[in-house]
Amino acid sequence: MAIQYLALSTMIVLYSLMFLGGYISAAGLGLTCPEWPLCPNGVMPSEEYLIEWVHRLAAATTGALVIATMAAALINKNSTWKIKLTSCLATAFVITQITLGALVIDLKLHALLVAIHLGMGILLFSMVLLTTIFAFRIAKVPMTTKA
Ligand code: HEM
Repeated sequence: MAIQYLALSTMIVLYSLMFLGGYISAAGLGLTCPEWPLCPNGVMPSEEYLIEWVHRLAAATTGALVIATMAAALINKNSTWKIKLTSCLATAFVITQITLGALVIDLKLHALLVAIHLGMGILLFSMVLLTTIFAFRIAKVPMTTKA
């Protein structure tokens, strides 16, 4: 997939994940699935844990997409140092964010951790947004032809 569409898909999935996280928090559903990494009934979804299950599935998908975008940025020969930097930072932030998510559950929604989880989500979104902008810029650069 072209790097700009990969980056754009990552941003859309991440935005939906953050929207869902906000809903979970505001609706008081944060501990409906009290275990990590799986809910008590295992890998399959169930009505009881559905919203948390979707949040975790979207987090795993986001993680894979962020890493794929970084790999695409690192191997693309038109990549600038800027897209390499923002995509590597996005990868570091997504790994931190998923780890924080696990801690939020383990420490039963400790207020400070929930706030850090939100703050890290915003930092992650900024890096993914910048990566998407840079990806559309490098996609415009004409392909170099061999002499
Ligand atoms: C890329 C990964 C993730 C992102 C971007 C993300 C983002 C968010 C956001 C924006 C919120 C709303 C926070 C608020 O309104 O204060 C949230 C809530 C939450 N997230 Fe995540 N999240 C991610 C991964 C995870 C993971 C892996 C877990 C682990 C199970 C998790 C567990 C939670 C929980 C329990 C809440 C609700 C906290 C509460 O009830 O106040 N998140 N998430």
